Amino acid sequence: MDLKNKRPAVMLSTEIIQKRVVEMATLIRQDYAGQELTVVGVLKGSFIFMADLVREIDLPLRCDFLGLSSYGSATESSGVVAITKDLDGPVDGRHVLVIEDIIDTGLTMAYLLQNLATRRPASVKIASLLSKPARRQIEVKIDYLGFTIEDRFVVGYGLDFDGQYRNLPFIGTMD
Ligand code: IMP
Repeated sequence: MDLKNKRPAVMLSTEIIQKRVVEMATLIRQDYAGQELTVVGVLKGSFIFMADLVREIDLPLRCDFLGLSSYGSATESSGVVAITKDLDGPVDGRHVLVIEDIIDTGLTMAYLLQNLATRRPASVKIASLLSKPARRQIEVKIDYLGFTIEDRFVVGYGLDFDGQYRNLPFIGTMD
């Protein structure tokens, strides 16, 4: 698929995303009331979603980041995942909320959940902006989901194609 130099078409506008992010934050705030939260962003795709989400969560929380890179072509993940940046702090005994941009095959998240479990957190939940259930290879329980989308390659709001388009303020389609 030659996607370079294409202009993405808007699938989810900035306004629609912002409204949904506030709704998700409200649910998270209610569910974690009285608890301390450790929010773990999966780099790089989650950085814009996480920045918007945490600013709407009025709770004591820490932010940490995990860099994951999944081998494969620009648009297909292989399920072979490498940690490119580990967490800065321990998560044992902590309530961890993992922030992802998109759950596609589910392979990256399945690997991450296994990895986190060895660090003995008090709990682990997942917040993902997007999900493409048609592509799932492993079932993943998404506790807080922004939008279910059809099987199309999307960019913007943190998501890239070949390292580009992360700075688009909306989610756009390339195909
Ligand atoms: P999974 O392991 O197949 O679930 O893939 C997860 C990762 O693949 C995401 O965190 C994204 O980085 C990337 N990805 C999957 N689908 C898309 C897409 O449509 N656009 C951009 N990146 C995607």
